[in-house]
Amino acid sequence: MLGIETSCDETAAAIVSRDQSGRGSIRSNVVRSQLDEHAAFGGVVPELAARAHITYLDHIIAQATREAGIELSEVDAIAATAGPGLIGGVLVGLTTAKALAAALGKPLIAVNHLEAHALTARLTNGVTFPYLMLLVSGGHSQFVVIRGVGDYQRWGSTIDDALGEAFDKTAKLLSLGHPGGPAVEQAAKKGDPNRFRFPRPLLREARLDFSFSGLKTAVRLQAEALAPLGEQDVCDIAASFQAAVSEIVAVRSAQALSRFHEELPGVRPTLVVAGGVAANQAIAAALASVCARSDADLVVPPSALCTDNGAMVAWAGAERLVLGASNALDFTARPRWPLDLEDMKVSPNAA
Ligand code: KG4
Ligand code: ZN
Repeated sequence: MLGIETSCDETAAAIVSRDQSGRGSIRSNVVRSQLDEHAAFGGVVPELAARAHITYLDHIIAQATREAGIELSEVDAIAATAGPGLIGGVLVGLTTAKALAAALGKPLIAVNHLEAHALTARLTNGVTFPYLMLLVSGGHSQFVVIRGVGDYQRWGSTIDDALGEAFDKTAKLLSLGHPGGPAVEQAAKKGDPNRFRFPRPLLREARLDFSFSGLKTAVRLQAEALAPLGEQDVCDIAASFQAAVSEIVAVRSAQALSRFHEELPGVRPTLVVAGGVAANQAIAAALASVCARSDADLVVPPSALCTDNGAMVAWAGAERLVLGASNALDFTARPRWPLDLEDMKVSPNAA
C-alpha cells in the first residue's frame, strides 16, 4: 500500500504492507518537513505549503518506492489523505493519488487524516479494538473511542484552540520559534513549573472537552507584565505552561478512562496517544501515572509516527482495503471531516 500525506506542512509518502494475520510492516517512510519554507512567517502559510507539496511530492513517492525496493506498479492500492486539513495541500496529494490509481488501474483509498492517527497504534503496537484515543495535534484535541475500523465515537474535543496550537502560540509569544512544541518542552526543562499558577480552564466541569484559549491569554498577560523577558523568565513561563497543560490532560484522561470502564465493562482500557504533542515527555509521564492509577495501559507510538507521516495513511488504507473498502475517483477533498460521521463506516466496494 502506498500512502500519501499532504494535509499540513509535511510532504510524505510511504510503503506499508499488512500480512494476513493483520500485522503491519513499514517498508519505507519518507517525510519532508517544510520548516524552511514557513520559518520566516512563524506558522504554516497554506499557499506556500501547497506549492511545496507540488514541487516535492513526485520525488518523495519515487524515493518511497525505491527505499521499499518495489516498482510503483507493484502496490496493491493507493491511499491518500483526503481531509481534514489545509485544502490546497490535500488537493495536491489526493489528485496525485487519483492520477496514479487511474494510470495503474489500482483502487484509491481516500483516508481521513484523523483515522490515520487513530489506527497508527495498531501498526506500531498491534493494539486491539476497542481502545480510547487521545488525539493531541496542531489542529485537534479530542478523545475518541475506537471500536473498529470506521467505527468511532467522539467523547470530547477542544472548544477553542488545539493543544499543539497552544504550544505553538506560547512559543511565538516567548520568541522560541516554530514549531513551538519541541521548543517549549526544551525551555521548560530549565524552568520552574511552580513559579506561575496558570488557569486550568473547564477542569472542574464533568465534561470531556478541552479549552486552551484562556490559558493562552494568561500566558500572554504574564509575559507582558514581566517584559522585557529574561532567559529564566522564558523558561519559567514555559515550564509553568507545560505543567498546566499536563495537569489538564491528565485529569481529563482519568475521567475518560473511568467512563470507558463504565461503558465498556470487562475491557481493560488502552489509552493511545496520537498526534504531534504525544512526543512531549512531560505529558507522556503524566499520562503514564494516570494509566497506572486507572487500571489502563498506555500506548505512545514512536514520535516519528505520531507526527504527520505517510506510513499512518498507508496503514489506514490497508486496514480499509482488507475490509473491501475503496473510493471512487471523484471523491472530493474535505477541509473539515469529523471522525464520527456516518460515512466513516466501511461500506465494501463503494467505488
Ligand atoms: O500531528 P502533527 O504533526 O500535525 C497535525 O496534524 O497538526 O502535530 C503538530 C503539533 C504542533 O503544534 C507541534 O508544536 C506539536 O505537535 N508538538 C509538540 C511537541 N512536538 C510536536 N508539542 C509539545 N511537545 C512536543 N515535544
Ligand atoms: Zn496530524
